[in-house]
Amino acid sequence: MKVSVIGAGNVGATCADVIAHKELANEVVLLDIKENFAEGKALDMWQTAPVNMYDSRITGSTNDYSKTAGSEVVVITSGLPRKPGMSRDDLIATNAKIVKSVTEQVIKYSPDAKIIVVSNPLDVMTYCAYLTAKVDPSRVFGMAGILDTARYRAFLATELNCSPKDIQAVLMGGHGDTMVPLPRYTTVGGIPVTELIEKDKLDAIIQRAKVGGGEIVNLLGTSAWYAPGAAAAQMVEAIVRDQKRIFPCCAWLQGEYGLKDIYLGVPVKLGKNGIEQIIELQLNDDEKALLNESAKAVKEVMNVLDGIDF
Ligand code: LAC
Repeated sequence: MKVSVIGAGNVGATCADVIAHKELANEVVLLDIKENFAEGKALDMWQTAPVNMYDSRITGSTNDYSKTAGSEVVVITSGLPRKPGMSRDDLIATNAKIVKSVTEQVIKYSPDAKIIVVSNPLDVMTYCAYLTAKVDPSRVFGMAGILDTARYRAFLATELNCSPKDIQAVLMGGHGDTMVPLPRYTTVGGIPVTELIEKDKLDAIIQRAKVGGGEIVNLLGTSAWYAPGAAAAQMVEAIVRDQKRIFPCCAWLQGEYGLKDIYLGVPVKLGKNGIEQIIELQLNDDEKALLNESAKAVKEVMNVLDGIDF
């Protein structure tokens, strides 16, 4: 079983490290365009194997996609990250060219792969990969919801001084400031979160989660990598182990939630075939309005992509 990660920057390298550490594949290929960069990172990671006691073999490659041939899953992290003051949407023109050329190579060598997109602006780069790959959308999807929910869950765990393991939550919409955390679908050890936190505190946590990526960009001068890398690896795990886990992922909607021809974060079942089901929640009017607003924002950026000649 081979899993490839394209882009050996912070997110890609972290993702490959987690995949190897958890032995999700016996072969992990890390690829980057920068000469010797992926080779160096892969070699460093491989040298942790005797310490961390795993046997997934990690190798690096400078842009030689033949090394990724026959991958079961490919994670695309390529593209520029945000700098302070930038929105994810500011990256569109540059990253669309990159994601398109990466996807062409990925699909050439691994025509049956499941493709997980992590590049930003996430929803639109997933759309870009889908347009390029020309495969069933159940095999092309984006990582955002797991990360955004993880931020929301981590903040709740801090506030409640409880284990993050016990916090379950659903979050929908685009990977941007319009994302929609859903308190009605948030529980702590089975207890509705609204019974444990006052409304104004919960609202503040929701707001912090929505701009959680930006908080890190402001602290570090570049975007996050530990949580995004681990979140993408969790999707890989659900696929290669056919776990049929329920996660919020960026998926191609064809009428679900009254939305059509759009990539947007929704709860899905993730297994060996990729997205095996899109789960439709019974949203109330307020939740629906927030989701529609988020869909509108994503659609605007998708339209920008449709207008770019690249
Ligand atoms: C973030 C980037 C990876 O949310 O989109 O941190």
